[in-house]
Amino acid sequence: MKLDLRKEFQTIFDSTEIPRIFFAPGRINLIGEHTDYNGGHVFPATISFGTYALAHKRDDQKLRFFSLNFTHTGIIECDLSHLAYDEAHDWANFPIGMIKFMRDSGFIISSGMDILFFGDIPNGAGLSSSASIEMVTGVLLEGLFDLEIDRVKMIQLGQQVENNYIGVNSGIMDQFAIGKGKKDHAILLNCQTLDYQYAPIQLEDHVIMIINTNKRRTLATSKYNERRTQCEQALADLQRELSIESLGDLTKEQFKQHMYLIQNKTNLKRAKHAVYENHRTLEALQQLQQGHIDAFGQLMNQSHLSLQLDYEVTGIELDTIVHTAWEQPGVIGARMTGAGFGGCAIAIVEKEQVEHFKNTVNTIYHQKTGYEATFYTATIGDGARELIEGVI
Ligand code: GLA
Repeated sequence: MKLDLRKEFQTIFDSTEIPRIFFAPGRINLIGEHTDYNGGHVFPATISFGTYALAHKRDDQKLRFFSLNFTHTGIIECDLSHLAYDEAHDWANFPIGMIKFMRDSGFIISSGMDILFFGDIPNGAGLSSSASIEMVTGVLLEGLFDLEIDRVKMIQLGQQVENNYIGVNSGIMDQFAIGKGKKDHAILLNCQTLDYQYAPIQLEDHVIMIINTNKRRTLATSKYNERRTQCEQALADLQRELSIESLGDLTKEQFKQHMYLIQNKTNLKRAKHAVYENHRTLEALQQLQQGHIDAFGQLMNQSHLSLQLDYEVTGIELDTIVHTAWEQPGVIGARMTGAGFGGCAIAIVEKEQVEHFKNTVNTIYHQKTGYEATFYTATIGDGARELIEGVI
């Protein structure tokens, strides 16, 4: 069924104005998990699912938000002069936070707006629906108010909204991927320097499957922040002897030589993951560039095991999906993607085996966990931008 978003806008806001339409995708991460806030590398790509935002300027200072995904909250209203976090604003805290942080950085947003959101990213699935809302708000403000804003600045403001307004201590991967995404490419990003390069993803006879465990990510924020603190403690221990700024500065050898400095056993495991995952990510890019897709898949599998055993962010649902995926014919590699604690896995699967893959993985998954998995074929699309077409 087609959805005419402009018509929806006019009905909801009782308006005859023709709004402009903006889009920001969600993302998957091919490899390099929980490395961004450790000063390491990540390798994400933007997908075709995302968040649409339709907006029109108002003559007054009022901001009105409506989401077709959360119709029960109705129109959420606030004023440009009152942009503080407010629980009553519910999901609208994401765009309000972005408006606030853009204004606080000196960008002139002079009037109110009506904004309609619609997202087709499965919610709570670890595909970055929140960064997608932040970034779609960023490009919307840029477009509506003719702002000259460097894209990396917008990305950094998105991360600050997450860290200092919403209260999740996340790294920069999601906003960066979404802000800079490129069709048919993944981005290798050095999260310490923000140097990046695009790498074409041409898998020929294979596709990237996204598998949603449909297990909502419970307690994800507190466990995420806890992992981050554990890594910071491990880093502080290592800094007693090493002059490093982040775990991403370490070679594997340096880590082996100095890991005795990390006093807490749990922190040691967390740091080990961060260091090895960073090197796996760099190696993965090389393997991909040389066309060694099997070796790339092996690195994905190792990444999952490390996230399962050392970083402990997977859980029975993700482990069942991934371990079952490994056993299927035509599977090159599979791993969890995103923060973990539920959410989605990805797998590189031979096109001819996709149907068999879906059926078998889902049957076993359902038997073991009671949940049904949902399968999507990932299409790698462009990053946050304005659209012309309003019918989707
Ligand atoms: C979440 C965070 C990212 C990153 C991943 C784990 O998606 O938002 O910054 O840390 O988890 O790799």
